[in-house]
Amino acid sequence: MIGIYIIGSKNKELNSKIFSQILEKYSNKKIGIFYPIINENEIKDTQALMQKFNIQQDLDQAYAFELTKAIEQFKNDEFIFFNTILDKYETLKNKYDIVFIISFNEFDILDTLDLNVNLAKNLNTPIAMITQNNILAKKYLDQVLKNKNYALIDENSTLNELDSLKAYDFLTPYRFKYELIKKNIKNKKTVVLPESDDQRILQACEILIKNDLANIILLGDEEQIKKNANFDVSKIQILNPKNSIFNEEFATMLYEARKAKGMSLEQAKELIKDRTYFGTLLVHSQKADAMVSGASTTTAETIRPALQIIKTKEGISSVSGIFFMGLKDEVLAFADCAVNPNPTPQELAQSAYVSALSAKAFGLDPKIAFLSYSSGDSGKGVSVDLVKEAVKIAKEQYPDLAIEGPIQFDAAYDLSTAKSKMPHSKIAGYANVFIFPDLNAANICYKAVQRTANALAIGPLLQGLKKPVNDLSRGCLVDDIVDTVILSAVQAQ
Ligand code: ACO
Repeated sequence: MIGIYIIGSKNKELNSKIFSQILEKYSNKKIGIFYPIINENEIKDTQALMQKFNIQQDLDQAYAFELTKAIEQFKNDEFIFFNTILDKYETLKNKYDIVFIISFNEFDILDTLDLNVNLAKNLNTPIAMITQNNILAKKYLDQVLKNKNYALIDENSTLNELDSLKAYDFLTPYRFKYELIKKNIKNKKTVVLPESDDQRILQACEILIKNDLANIILLGDEEQIKKNANFDVSKIQILNPKNSIFNEEFATMLYEARKAKGMSLEQAKELIKDRTYFGTLLVHSQKADAMVSGASTTTAETIRPALQIIKTKEGISSVSGIFFMGLKDEVLAFADCAVNPNPTPQELAQSAYVSALSAKAFGLDPKIAFLSYSSGDSGKGVSVDLVKEAVKIAKEQYPDLAIEGPIQFDAAYDLSTAKSKMPHSKIAGYANVFIFPDLNAANICYKAVQRTANALAIGPLLQGLKKPVNDLSRGCLVDDIVDTVILSAVQAQ
């Protein structure tokens, strides 16, 4: 199956003439059509067109939004706007040999060309543009599609150029989130959120429950939670660490885990009343699959119980934190942005290994760059030596990983710089997992990219623990909490 995104010109007559020719050309195939947005007054014409070309498809499958509703949804929540279109198209596409996605030419005051191209990238459908100005169209598409294939069509086209179009492989932030949600819906997990006294947590729970994205456990006083929540909490399990049915079991569990470190049973009995310890024990005892906390506690307070009780996976001694950075049409992974202030070479190597596993679990094909101010032997210094040593260890211990380093960010990310700085490297220019030399560099850099490039920063996801426990920033927004719960549930799969 292939989908082709047909972007019309300003000349409506030319568009419908060429579209009829396209349908004629592929009439021996099972054709589907899809309008991300349909103008209300085009619905009748669409029905007629489907009849004329014998397109066997229900009309309500053929579009995602009517124009007025699309504009409303886009204003209210851009993610749901894109997610609805993605979901409708993904459900439709496998029923047909070829699906033509038809562009829209009106969208309030916004530029429809940019929005149509953005949608084609989200759907990963190659663009066929009907145009009377090939030079400008080529310049624009080369730039926005980063030299991926497309076809330009005018009155004289044979349309044979459509035959060689291939699907794109953009990983837009919206597609990234869409894929994660799909994984979660298939296999719903239980996530504990200890901070029920925070309105943002309650609002996030409402979204998660309404969209059936996870089972939720909230910690705290049931009456108070019911009073504070503006929605029906009957689907949420509520436990109070002060007096829950698990307190005795958890006190023994904590005591057993920490007695070698000098903890008494009495101390354990007190400590489990702390909601972060209680939540961590719910995960440790498999009563929950993951914990998300930190809206009102520091990173250290949130993750220390997990480091002490849940501990690391076999073969891993160092927990690290990864961020998925959603740029315009790609997702990159940055690590370790959250845990180890001054990693040793061994810790950096492990951070790369668990980052590769996380990247794979979240749909990326990991190509790892160990970042430095030096590419190869171009620069010298103690911190370059540390990265060199980390690369050596990583290559020895994880020979299957695709690794380059030490390498500067520009050579790791940008193909033309890579060709001049590291022409023989297979990773340079293609890296998508970036291992920073220390917490200062990583934490500063993810925040700089998030703020200056307006990137969606999803994380930090803690990696290397036996069970998922994830930290929220104290400045987190409701959407950040929803995203972190979804990611934690995927980690628990
Ligand atoms: N991996 C695995 N285990 C660890 C790690 C690690 N990276 N670090 C500590 N531990 C273990 C220790 O071995 C110890 O276990 P034990 O008690 O069973 O022997 C336990 O955790 C506690 O260790 P401490 O040395 O007491 O560590 P502490 O609790 O003081 O600190 C922490 C650990 C919280 C990770 C600390 O390194 C830290 O504060 N890091 C920076 C966090 C931070 O501020 N991040 C930036 C903000 S996050 C953001 O902006 C997204």
